[in-house]
Amino acid sequence: MKISRTPRLLLAATLALVTSTASLAQATSSVVPLPNDALFQQFGGKPGLTKLMDDFVERLVVDPRTERFFKNANKPHLKAQLTDQLCEVSGGPCKLKGPAMADVHAEMGIHKGDFNALVEVLQQSMNAQGIPFSAQNRMLAQLAPMHRDIITGE
Ligand code: HEM
Repeated sequence: MKISRTPRLLLAATLALVTSTASLAQATSSVVPLPNDALFQQFGGKPGLTKLMDDFVERLVVDPRTERFFKNANKPHLKAQLTDQLCEVSGGPCKLKGPAMADVHAEMGIHKGDFNALVEVLQQSMNAQGIPFSAQNRMLAQLAPMHRDIITGE
């Protein structure tokens, strides 16, 4: 699916903003808690996020930019963990349990381009599920600060 220019620009702006403020926040505490579950509801609650993460992981496994990272992944586990994580950061009633993001991704040698590719695949999934553009950007803004824990490649 072709990604329009506007989402790309907004994504770039989001990442640039987050990068510029990187030194101001701790790694895992940098996710901003939301005051209510409106964003979670816009994603269809837990069933909507479960469907979204199912589609997302299936795309990650086949996308030529990300398949080398995900081809040996434990897909059911990854889908469940991502669902809990997006539920949590969107104000839903979940709490991701598991290792810290930095520990999970430490040895993967993930570069900025890999991170951006994953975000674009997520945008494909969100578009396919008809998530409103404003909600997509709010979710991306919640996830973007995690780049500090995840990008370790030069
Ligand atoms: C905001 C961006 C990201 C988020 C929120 C995220 C989140 C997660 C979560 C929740 C897990 C499961 C951890 C567990 O086992 O409990 C995981 C695992 C993993 N992530 Fe990420 N991740 C992100 C970016 C990336 C990127 C950019 C890559 C590579 C291009 C990547 C590759 C992986 C791989 C390979 C696994 C292990 C899968 C498995 O074997 O089960 N992640 N990630």
